[in-house]
Amino acid sequence: MYVCNCNGIREREVRAAVASGATRPSEIFRACDAQPQCARCVCDMREILQEQRQALRYAAE
Ligand code: FES
Repeated sequence: MYVCNCNGIREREVRAAVASGATRPSEIFRACDAQPQCARCVCDMREILQEQRQALRYAAE
């Protein structure tokens, strides 16, 4: 599934960027060698970041 249609960034690429240390949408774009254009995907990226943070928090408990 595509998260960013402008750049063709898939959900698995976003998750890989987050797993590699991206903590903000701008860092996800950088990791994917892309630039934000319409920015409609930023909310979805933030949701994935939040999900990953919660998963790490539960894993640490
Ligand atoms: S959908 Fe990602 S910049 Fe447009």
